Amino acid sequence: MAQSVVFWNLFSKTYSKQKISDQKAYEYKLQKTRALMKPTDHVFEFGCGTGSTAIYHAEKVKSIHATDYAKGMIEIANSKLENGGPENVKFQVGTFDSLNLEANSYDMVLGLNILHLIPNMSATIEKIAQITKPGGYFIGSTACLKPTGMYKFKWLFDGLAFLGILPKVYFFSSEELASALEENGFTIIENSTPGSGPEVRFTIAQKNS
Ligand SMILES: C[S@@+](CC[C@H](N)C(=O)[O-])C[C@H]1O[C@@H](n2cnc3c(N)ncnc32)[C@H](O)[C@@H]1O
Repeated sequence: MAQSVVFWNLFSKTYSKQKISDQKAYEYKLQKTRALMKPTDHVFEFGCGTGSTAIYHAEKVKSIHATDYAKGMIEIANSKLENGGPENVKFQVGTFDSLNLEANSYDMVLGLNILHLIPNMSATIEKIAQITKPGGYFIGSTACLKPTGMYKFKWLFDGLAFLGILPKVYFFSSEELASALEENGFTIIENSTPGSGPEVRFTIAQKNS
């Protein structure tokens, strides 16, 4: 974890300049997410990166609390709030463990391109379930790499992460992700692959009331 945070801090400026790799899939996910948002909603985002998605959604909800463990990412996100950015977005450095998050306090939790970068996916889902209100949503975009050809190269991913060239990537299947959500009281509404890569799962799950 410590190595990966160094990676993301160093990479934050480059990341902020990168083009979205699959614009069509990105738009699809934005619109699906927006369709579930209400003006009274309080939204939590973890692994928000440089904050573009939180800023985009801000006008649709009451508040967005967007977080990332890399200070470099949050500095860039905060710079986007200067000169007239939305006032209902708060960016904060932190993780589920370091932030003092209240149980059942968010109508929606966003985890975009992040769950496969955090150790112990099912423990993270448990934390998501704790902070989501009954009837609220988890929306995720996750590389589920376990059954794909990439799994054969896990040793390479691990080696590159060890050298600090890549962040550490954790391997699980889309079935394991769906089971973790269901075991933690969510019903899967959507589990699709809108992008060109079949391994990136777009998940919408609703917490049972
Ligand atoms: C691939 S980027 C995705 C950023 C953004 N969600 C997006 O879709 O563009 C992953 C982000 O997750 C953050 N991250 C990785 N592990 C994390 C953790 N354990 N807790 C919080 N943030 C984390 C990184 O700093 C990075 O900004």
